[in-house]
Amino acid sequence: MSFRIELLVAKHVSGAADVLVNAYALPPWNENWSLEAAAENVTYVLQTPRSVALVAVDEGKVLGIALGIRQRRHTGPVIYLDELSVQPDAQGKGIGTALLSAMFETAKAEGCSSVWLISQRGGALSEFYQRSGFAMRSDLGIYSRSSG
Ligand SMILES: CC(C)(COP(=O)(O)OP(=O)(O)OC[C@H]1O[C@@H](n2cnc3c(N)ncnc32)[C@H](O)[C@@H]1OP(=O)(O)O)[C@@H](O)C(=O)NCCC(=O)NCCS
Repeated sequence: MSFRIELLVAKHVSGAADVLVNAYALPPWNENWSLEAAAENVTYVLQTPRSVALVAVDEGKVLGIALGIRQRRHTGPVIYLDELSVQPDAQGKGIGTALLSAMFETAKAEGCSSVWLISQRGGALSEFYQRSGFAMRSDLGIYSRSSG
């Protein structure tokens, strides 16, 4: 499949939102995103200082997105990859791997010591990240407190 990786800019927001809605409607997530909420999510990232946002496009159509935030740690600068998703009918063709790799190369070129992300501990997604060289931490968990 032919695609190019570019910086995500305002003209990509609705295409990026469409990717989010469709990618997360499927297992293992089964999430019910509205287009409006998804567009807001992408816009928030674009409006965040020091964000880094990439798209995979083919003839203007957004096929995948990678959204990250630059952070500073005691080890030096890092990138937190907040979002990686690919349009379901374009999955399994190397776009996710290419976006992940482009984010890592961006980080490396900026002198970042690592890229980190949160995902499932097992299954196809875990294997996907590990195939791209991401190691899973065994000592950390995710904490959240709901208001409802
Ligand atoms: C995970 C994801 C970004 C991978 O993108 P992709 O373009 O399909 O990735 P690639 O083609 O480079 O690699 C495909 C590999 O991803 C793995 N994979 C993980 N989850 C998958 C899914 N839901 N569908 C298809 N492949 C998936 C498969 O093992 C596949 O390996 P294979 O080609 O040997 O079968 C994409 O499947 C996706 O958008 N999933 C839904 C959203 C999501 O889970 N994002 C990550 C949240 S942490």
